[in-house]
Amino acid sequence: MDTHFIPQQAVVLLENGLQLPLGTDGRAYFNYYWLRDNCPSSFDSATRERSFDIFHLEQPPRAASADIVGDTLIISWADETHVSRYPLSMLAANTGGQQRADPADLPRKAWFSDHYPQIQRFSQPDLMQDRSLVAQWIKAMIVDGLTIVTDMPDSDQGLTDTVRLMGHVRPTFFGEYFDVKTHINPTNTAYTAKALELHTDTPAEEYAPGIQFLHCRANTVQGGLSIYSDGVAVANAFRTADPEGFRLLSEIDIPFYCEHDDYDMRSRQRVIELDQHGEVSGLTISQHMADVFDLPQDVLDSYYPAFCRFGRMLQDDRFLMRFMMKAGECMVFDNHRVVHGRLAYSATTGDRYLRGCYADRAEMRSTYRALVSEGRFRA
Ligand SMILES: [Fe+2]
Repeated sequence: MDTHFIPQQAVVLLENGLQLPLGTDGRAYFNYYWLRDNCPSSFDSATRERSFDIFHLEQPPRAASADIVGDTLIISWADETHVSRYPLSMLAANTGGQQRADPADLPRKAWFSDHYPQIQRFSQPDLMQDRSLVAQWIKAMIVDGLTIVTDMPDSDQGLTDTVRLMGHVRPTFFGEYFDVKTHINPTNTAYTAKALELHTDTPAEEYAPGIQFLHCRANTVQGGLSIYSDGVAVANAFRTADPEGFRLLSEIDIPFYCEHDDYDMRSRQRVIELDQHGEVSGLTISQHMADVFDLPQDVLDSYYPAFCRFGRMLQDDRFLMRFMMKAGECMVFDNHRVVHGRLAYSATTGDRYLRGCYADRAEMRSTYRALVSEGRFRA
């Protein structure tokens, strides 16, 4: 007997839903609320939003009859004069409660200290004219977490225009844009000529900005090499080398702060962030913005050694990429994944000016989906 044979069954009406001859065992169950709410007529083709309001059904939805005709399930509803028609392909895609396929959910590709020549580069004037190139740029951002936009106009507007290709400028509590150069009264180590250790930006915000742009307008000083490490590469190596340390850093929240005369920003974050698949999605780390750890002191017996081991690993020669930024380049990187910093420089030897801002990571993914997929309702 062929055990793979699944006899064709009729639709079976049950108390709270119905059963269809679909799915791996030929018995896919669908709840009536779900079916009524997701009738194709529930969605407005102009706004693409759900226009049906399930909160105002007078009775719980229940099928009076249901039949499969060709490749369509037809339900006549009890207690209302409505007939729903569902393509079986739509139902087959929802038999197991599976999440909707997401074109922006791409596997990350870890990179190491030798990555600089391979960083994907995109010319700003080309990006401004070609949306398919913007899709390639964003794909590189999702996969690698870091790209360089070249041939940037030497203007403030050039940076704004570049950000607008993927989303909006996302303000922080410092405002919309920031200038990295030596300040007379610095409020931040970045605004001095000192070395800036590897960090992610504004960890003290509840939701730190996702994508960072650093537009190099001038760089003629001695020193000041940029340093970057891929948090995914380092955290994955750390996971193998020290599983218990990895667990501590990915499960325990620690406090971050940013404080000066008229602000006092605070948050609690995990150093290693995991995504919905349990894979490392990024980091939140900053020695100059880590608050006094307020964990029980005996927890710190194991947390601190793991924290220091991981911090040293970020700076390991296997992972640390060093290079000199050039005027006209804009580093674009995932602030939740890539740690960045710089070596000290001599402020009297020339000019060093980076202008920066942020965009939102979810908005970048939204732009990518719109560029590469049809969406749910587009023809
Ligand atoms: Fe920074």
